[in-house]
This record gives sequence, structure tokens and C-alpha cells, in this order.
Amino acid sequence: MTDLPAEHRLDSTLDLMGEGYLYIGNRCQTHASPIFRARILFENTLCLRGAEAAKLFYNTETCRRAGAAPMRLQKTLFGVGGVQGLDDEAHRHRKAMFMDLMSPEGIDALVNRVNTEWQRALTRWETMAEVHLFKECQFILCRAVCAWAGVPLPEADLERRTHQLAAMIDGAGAVGPRHWQARRSRDDAENWIGKLVEKVRRTPEDYEESREQSALIRFSLHRDEHGELLPIRVVAVEILNVLRPTLAVSRYMVFIAHALHCWPETRPDVDDDDAIHRFVQEVRRYYPFFPVAAARLRHDVEWQGYTLPGGTRLLLDLYGTNHDPDGWEAPETFDPERFRHREVDAWQLIPQGGGDHHVNHRCPGEWITIRLMEETIRRLDAMHWTVPEQDLAIDLSEIPALPDSGMILREVHPRH
Ligand code: HEM
Repeated sequence: MTDLPAEHRLDSTLDLMGEGYLYIGNRCQTHASPIFRARILFENTLCLRGAEAAKLFYNTETCRRAGAAPMRLQKTLFGVGGVQGLDDEAHRHRKAMFMDLMSPEGIDALVNRVNTEWQRALTRWETMAEVHLFKECQFILCRAVCAWAGVPLPEADLERRTHQLAAMIDGAGAVGPRHWQARRSRDDAENWIGKLVEKVRRTPEDYEESREQSALIRFSLHRDEHGELLPIRVVAVEILNVLRPTLAVSRYMVFIAHALHCWPETRPDVDDDDAIHRFVQEVRRYYPFFPVAAARLRHDVEWQGYTLPGGTRLLLDLYGTNHDPDGWEAPETFDPERFRHREVDAWQLIPQGGGDHHVNHRCPGEWITIRLMEETIRRLDAMHWTVPEQDLAIDLSEIPALPDSGMILREVHPRH
């Protein structure tokens, strides 16, 4: 890997953890290059950012996922054996199982459930001195997505299950107690869902009629590309791959409220669907969420004048690509209007991955996320709320990031 700009430290993992979302972008800036080499987690790694880098990263002829994600992330965030680590035919087949959930009717059904839960919560918020928006949105989403996915959730278990799903996200990038908490949460949640899968499989005939409706039933009875049922643990991992990230939309809900509060002049007219959409796109571009995605080169590749050796791990900077000065004018300014005259292609705005949803590892929940964010703007507009003094700073060295306060609202009540 001669010639490639390189970090000459023995290992840069501590720098990465210290600088968080900014690590790759800072180095690309210093090296004046969209790519550099560093040792991360004691392995030679190529760090990349920008639309051209995303095209390389999402080329399935060039890159694979098997063996790319560190085990500590699989044991917390993704789960072992899930769609994230698959390639080629096995990936496309498994991915179709997720994409089948994303019909317009399926998405509407989830959005309606979330709206109903929000309305219910609002009557409670009216009686509360303060509303912790992040926590409240997590409960709303947990109830709604479990019902949507066909996963029974007794009210008495709501708090515990919400914390478990949240801990998998919260502790994924952490070391020490938060990491171990995330592992315990995953084990416990996989056991919980695994028992439900066994129940469906014991008497599948009871579920044939409702098969279309729920991820629990569809995934439990899904057959892989060889016609085999998936191992129970893998089904549990995949059902959690629906529940956990839907709960994570709570972070974007907080970011929506944060942006509406911080830049009131950019507030969209709620009767203008396009303006709402532009605002959501800018929140997804501007705010930090997933920092990077990982893959491995299948073979040696010539790219931008460099020879990149086969087998090397690639880290694509998702946050940095959304803030790449070569791709975005004034990237550090929050400005929904930038989307007014701009077509969004598959490589520049990549908070949920790039490329094609069916073929690549791009997030199958992207439409759900966008719809739920759009609804959040409408729900917040239909409420009166004030923002008391609090720490709204977002620390970009913390992964995953959130305003320190979790966004506290006061004087919440319906507007009409
Ligand atoms: C994959 C982000 C919501 C399910 C991904 C990836 C990212 C991402 C960055 C990986 C892309 C890659 O590896 O190249 C997000 C964000 C969300 C969100 C920021 C908002 C909170 C959702 C929702 C669902 C979902 C609502 C399901 C209902 C998945 C699955 C994958 C995935 C199953 C793996 C896809 C594959 O490997 O082919 N998401 N996601 N996500 N997401 Fe999401």
C-alpha cells in the first residue's frame, strides 16, 4: 500500500474513539485525500469518505461483508448470523425478506400505530411538568413496532424491553460496563424472541392466515435460498433487526425537535409536504447517527491512482460523506433549502447506507424512518411546547450522539 496517505501510529483506535464522528473527516482534510490508511483495532484499515468512495464500497464485485464487522459489534448491535454479514445470493434472498415488509400499506400501518401511541402519550404529557422527549419516543416506538411486528408485549414488560433494545444501540460502540450491558441485553432479547419463534413453528397452521401481517410470523416461517427454515437464533436476530432500529428512530425524533428549536427560521410549513421532506432530509444529512460502515476488498483494486490490496478492511465514513465539502456547499450549515433544487442520488446522502436497497446493504428501514420523521414534524406542530434551559450541545466524540439533556420539553399540550 505504498503511496497511500497513512497514519503512522502503531494503532489509531484511541484516536478514533476520541474524535468519534470527526475522525475520518479530520484526517481526509489533513491528508487532502478521500482515502488514507490507518491501523484500527490492530488491523490495516482503509478509511474513505465521499460519493466516489461510496461507489467503490457498495460495488458488490469489489467488496464483501463477511468478516468485516468487528465481533464486539456483532455481539451487541447486529447479532450473529444476521443479514448485515451476508453476501451475494444469501444476502439478496435474506434482504428480500425485509423488503417484503416495506410495502406502502405495511409502512402506513406502522406509521398509524406510532401516531396513535403519540396521541395517547400526549394526554399524559399534558399532566407532566417536564417531558423527556427521547425516553418518551422510545416507549412510543417500542409499543408500536412490537404490535406491528406481531411481537406480544405486555404493558408490565414495556420498560424492560425498551431499555434492552435501547442498550444494544447505546452500548455498541462503548467499552467496559456499557458494552457488557449491551451484550446481556442482546442475549436476553434473543431468548425472548426465540421462544416466540418456537411457538409459531410448533403450530404453523395456526398462523398461515396472519402470515402477511407480521415480521414474527413471516420470518419464523421464512425459507432460505436452499428451502431451509432459518435457525431460531438467526430468526430472533432478524426480528430484533426490525425492533431495535425502529426504536432508534427516537434519536431522529429528538433531532427534529432540536432542529426546530435551534433554527426556527427553517421550520417548514406543515401544509407543504415537500418542505417537510426537505427538512427531514437535512436532519438526516446534518445530524450524527451511524458513523461508519465496514466491508472488505474481495481482491486487489485500482482506485484513484492507488492499488488497494485484496482482503483489506474498508471503513466508509457515512457521517463524513454527508458533510463532505466536495459534495455539499457549506456542509456545517443546517439548511433544508439545499434540497429544493437538488436530486438526491444514491451516493452522497448516506446516513442509512448507499446504493440499492435490494442489492446492497443499504437500510431497508429508510422509508419507515423518513415517514416517521415527517410525522414527527406534524405531531410537534400540533402541540404547544417550550424548551427550558438545558444542555442541548451534541458532542461529536460520543457515539451514538444525542443532545446531552435528551431534549426536555415543558408546557406540553395540544394546540387545537
Ligand atoms: C442497515 C441506518 C432505521 C433495518 C442499516 C445501515 C445503516 C442504517 C447505516 C447499514 C448500511 C450498510 O451497511 O451499508 C439506520 C438509521 C435508522 C435506521 C440511521 C434510523 C433510526 C432502520 C429501520 C429498520 C432498519 C426502521 C427496520 C424496520 C436495517 C437492517 C439493515 C440496516 C435490517 C441491514 C441491511 C443489510 O445488511 O442489507 N441501517 N437504519 N433500519 N437497517 Fe437501518
